[in-house]
Amino acid sequence: MGGQSYYKVLIICVVALFVSTHAQLELGFYAKSCPKAENIITNFVHDHIHNAPSLAAALLRMHFHDCFVRGCDGSVLLNSTSNEAEKDAPPNLTVRGFDFIDRIKSLVEAECPSVVSCADIIALAARDSIVHTGGPSWKVPTGRRDGVISNKTEATNNIPAPSSNFTTLQTLFANQGLDLNDLVLLSGAHTIGISLCTSFSNRLYNFTGKGDEDPSLDSEYAKNLKTLKCKNINDNTTIVEMDPGSRNTFDLGYYSQVVKRRGLFESDAALLTNSTTKSLVNQFLQGSIQKFYAEFAKSIEKMGQINVKTGTQGEIRKHCAFINS
Ligand code: HEM
Ligand SMILES: *[C@@H]1O[C@H](CO)[C@@H](O)[C@H](O)[C@H]1NC(C)=O
Ligand SMILES: *[C@@H]1O[C@H](CO)[C@@H](O)[C@H](O)[C@H]1NC(C)=O
Ligand SMILES: *[C@@H]1O[C@H](CO)[C@@H](O)[C@H](O)[C@H]1NC(C)=O
Ligand SMILES: *[C@@H]1O[C@H](CO)[C@@H](O)[C@H](O)[C@H]1NC(C)=O
Ligand SMILES: *[C@@H]1O[C@H](CO)[C@@H](O)[C@H](O)[C@H]1NC(C)=O
Ligand SMILES: *[C@@H]1O[C@H](CO)[C@@H](O)[C@H](O)[C@H]1NC(C)=O
Ligand SMILES: *[C@@H]1O[C@H](CO)[C@@H](O)[C@H](O)[C@H]1NC(C)=O
Repeated sequence: MGGQSYYKVLIICVVALFVSTHAQLELGFYAKSCPKAENIITNFVHDHIHNAPSLAAALLRMHFHDCFVRGCDGSVLLNSTSNEAEKDAPPNLTVRGFDFIDRIKSLVEAECPSVVSCADIIALAARDSIVHTGGPSWKVPTGRRDGVISNKTEATNNIPAPSSNFTTLQTLFANQGLDLNDLVLLSGAHTIGISLCTSFSNRLYNFTGKGDEDPSLDSEYAKNLKTLKCKNINDNTTIVEMDPGSRNTFDLGYYSQVVKRRGLFESDAALLTNSTTKSLVNQFLQGSIQKFYAEFAKSIEKMGQINVKTGTQGEIRKHCAFINS
């Protein structure tokens, strides 16, 4: 074999390997196998999200947590069996969304049994609920299959903590193929939703173990939070809006909170500790909302493709909380 044809064969092999192992999602994957599936999901969200608009945030966060552990494979929905599942890794406010997903799943199963994955339902419901509450839209190619493993330790290791610093955030995002631009854009999701005091109360009461406050948090804001919201370090029930007064509005409010040093988490404040992410925060804040929506869409489409299972990998679960037996 001449040198040139040897290289040709090599290139073909490399390309074949890439094609066979590279996950391929496609827009409208269920167009033939379950043509009504996406409409059932969109209509359910349309009919029910206005009763509980705060669920949009829970579903978006669920999508993020799903994708960061073993890829977007619905593992976040599995209940613990003999081992502890992702669901049981604290904090788990996402619990508010589980029942919503289960209800969609039963409608879709009634239409086409064992065709539509729970992983796709999360991705579609998250997008649709954000759209219905007036936020950005993005493309959700489908064809994800469901995983069979959910492991609390893996969730703890891969999902950033509110106490994560810049280096940890960058590493955890890079592990998923996401860069600093994605980090700043996706953190922008904190423009909606709520947090429990326990996710950040150490910053108010005992930052370094000396009964002190986190100096990177605006002290005026810290004082308000202590007087009006998180009255002691053990308060594990009070909720705080991350973007006060606009928890259901997908706007640039998160970035303006961050630059005022009023982001609730150390991970929010951490975006100002690196010059690259700091300038991105300012750039998005000064840009238009349309620009933010368009950029956010690109990053979340990227997130929705993380380590997806396709083809014959995984399974299509019957019930989202349990693997098929
Ligand atoms: C950058 C690292 C991130 C950290 C450290 C982080 C941390 C947190 C924490 C601690 C909460 C409050 C949970 C609670 O108190 O129970 C929260 C809420 C939330 N997070 Fe993140 N998050 C991050 C990135 C993201 C991303 C990438 C998204 C989605 C694209 C997201 C979407 C949300 C939403 C929507 C809520 C509100 C949930 C609700 O209202 O139920 N977060 N996050
Ligand atoms: C599965 O977990 C959810 C929430 O974690 C809980 O509400 C539900 O009762 C569990 N289902 C079963 C059958 O254990
Ligand atoms: C939420 O997390 C807590 C603490 O890990 C755990 O005890 C609880 O069972 C979880 N709740 C649900 C519904 O999974
Ligand atoms: C869960 O993941 C951790 C960390 O990768 C691993 O050490 C542990 O064995 C896993 N647990 C189960 C039950 O597979
Ligand atoms: C960031 O956090 C990690 C993990 O807690 C720690 O090992 C590291 O030293 C921290 N980095 C900086 C620059 O503080
Ligand atoms: C603050 O943290 C230190 C070290 O962990 C602990 O000894 C102390 O009791 C804490 N104080 C409060 C008010 O929780
Ligand atoms: C909240 O704190 C109280 C008192 O410290 C404790 O009894 C309770 O189990 C905690 N609840 C949760 C959900 O962690
Ligand atoms: C910000 O992070 C980037 C990427 O890790 C790094 O190249 C740069 O040096 C960091 N800047 C500062 C000021 O830490």
